[in-house]
Amino acid sequence: MVLLATAFLLSKLLAPAFLLTPEHLDPPTPDPEPSLNVKFDPRTMTLAWDCKENTTSGRCTMLLKEEDRVVKKPRKKECWCNFEDTPLHRGVLLEVQVNTSERSFREKVLYSNPGGEGTAARNFSCVIYDVDFMNCSWAKGAAAPGDVQYFLYIRDSKRKRERECPRYVQHLGTHVGCHLRNLSGLTFRNYFLLNGTSRTVGIQFFDSILSTKEIERYSPPANISVLCNASHCVIRWDKPRTRRALSHSEFQYQLDIQRKVILTQPDTIDVSGDLENQYHFPSSEPRATHVVRIRAADARIPDWSPWSRPVEFGERVGRHVGKGCVRLVGSGVFTLSLCLRRFLGVHRLFPPIPQIKDKLSENHQVGDPVGHRRGWLDLCPAQCASPW
Ligand SMILES: *[C@@H]1O[C@H](CO)[C@@H](O)[C@H](O)[C@H]1NC(C)=O
Ligand SMILES: *[C@@H]1O[C@H](CO)[C@@H](O)[C@H](O)[C@H]1NC(C)=O
Ligand SMILES: *[C@@H]1O[C@H](CO)[C@@H](O)[C@H](O)[C@H]1NC(C)=O
Ligand SMILES: *[C@@H]1O[C@H](CO)[C@@H](O)[C@H](O)[C@H]1NC(C)=O
Ligand SMILES: *[C@@H]1O[C@H](CO)[C@@H](O)[C@H](O)[C@H]1NC(C)=O
Ligand SMILES: *[C@@H]1O[C@H](CO)[C@@H](O)[C@H](O)[C@H]1NC(C)=O
Ligand SMILES: *[C@@H]1O[C@H](CO)[C@@H](O)[C@H](O)[C@H]1NC(C)=O
Ligand SMILES: *[C@@H]1O[C@H](CO)[C@@H](O)[C@H](O)[C@H]1NC(C)=O
Repeated sequence: MVLLATAFLLSKLLAPAFLLTPEHLDPPTPDPEPSLNVKFDPRTMTLAWDCKENTTSGRCTMLLKEEDRVVKKPRKKECWCNFEDTPLHRGVLLEVQVNTSERSFREKVLYSNPGGEGTAARNFSCVIYDVDFMNCSWAKGAAAPGDVQYFLYIRDSKRKRERECPRYVQHLGTHVGCHLRNLSGLTFRNYFLLNGTSRTVGIQFFDSILSTKEIERYSPPANISVLCNASHCVIRWDKPRTRRALSHSEFQYQLDIQRKVILTQPDTIDVSGDLENQYHFPSSEPRATHVVRIRAADARIPDWSPWSRPVEFGERVGRHVGKGCVRLVGSGVFTLSLCLRRFLGVHRLFPPIPQIKDKLSENHQVGDPVGHRRGWLDLCPAQCASPW
């Protein structure tokens, strides 16, 4: 802010047009030069000025921090420029340049955050979760008085809709968060304004532009299944549901596979979304009981979803498969041990394996000697695994 104010003063001193404005002229000069009378409206991000006759060209500049500048050209005959939504809480310097056939105008205006330094809310962040919910949170400004109250407004990028937070989270009566259950009004990019009131001092605002993609935390991958042969287990899953439909390559995953009895080091396996949501886990028989959990993130931003429910696979030595499990015995080579209990989507777990014949048999138990199990496919979805 200090920097900007200095810049403002300097530019005032240096800009030739300013040297001609009334306050810089000596008293005897009769006809004060007309000024543009530039005005900035932060709500609509519009910079406007008094129209000048015979205007040949014009230019609007928004100067953010040090080097950041946005330049706009007003349309013919229009005496205003409209900027995209931009965070303004650090202040901005705006400049209008207008050339007419007779002369050239150049005028600046500083827009600064009103209120006491350090009173604005800080540590503002938002997260979208489970597709349809959003939580935002913030903390009181260090210099904010005890009676401060904050208000959050969210505006879509088309500025069609501005709404106040429908449900605040409070701490000792102060709003410190917001919970939204209906995100239908959000566009890809949204403007968040956090302003405040107090009886003793002006409260500065904080504002930020957040894209829904940046702040969405994915749900864990769904429908995890494990399919094993003698040497490998293929773990498959569905990509998480997201606000926008995304291709496989937009995701990355982490698998956490552990032996159930001997707790091994947490050693996660990274899997790119390009691999179509499957992982071939080398694990030869006899195979101990394992559990796998999976989490997901955007391929570029490792902001991980929570872990999925653990899914158990492998032998379950000394245990019997629960009631309701059906065993499909193949042509003496492959056997599918299938748990149907409470598992609705079980048919999805049947990839087209040509070797399998639809023959039911009671001859093979899961606890059978190793020799009998060689070459079996042991398929047991999460819902059968008892401890969870
Ligand atoms: C605009 O241009 C016309 C013709 O060139 C001229 O007569 C008039 O004085 C100009 N107006 C101003 C405000 O300079
Ligand atoms: C106005 O004229 C000046 C000098 O002739 C030139 O440097 C400047 O770029 C012009 N401004 C616009 C907006 O065209
Ligand atoms: C705000 O964030 C900073 C750094 O991220 C942290 O050090 C500080 O404790 C946070 N303040 C509050 C009040 O949460
Ligand atoms: C979001 O806020 C709600 C209500 O305060 C809370 O119950 C929930 O646990 C929060 N969820 C996340 C992911 O922050
Ligand atoms: C969400 O908000 C939109 C627009 O404000 C409204 O049309 C819709 O009915 C709301 N949905 C729910 C589930 O409340
Ligand atoms: C906060 O901003 C909203 C939206 O622009 C506005 O309606 C409200 O009056 C502001 N409140 C304060 C205290 O500045
Ligand atoms: C087991 O599956 C792996 C890949 O998952 C495959 O390469 C291997 O040939 C299979 N072994 C048998 C005996 O089918
Ligand atoms: C999980 O599988 C079921 C059944 O096929 C399907 O309806 C559901 O959409 C899947 N879930 C996800 C998140 O893909």
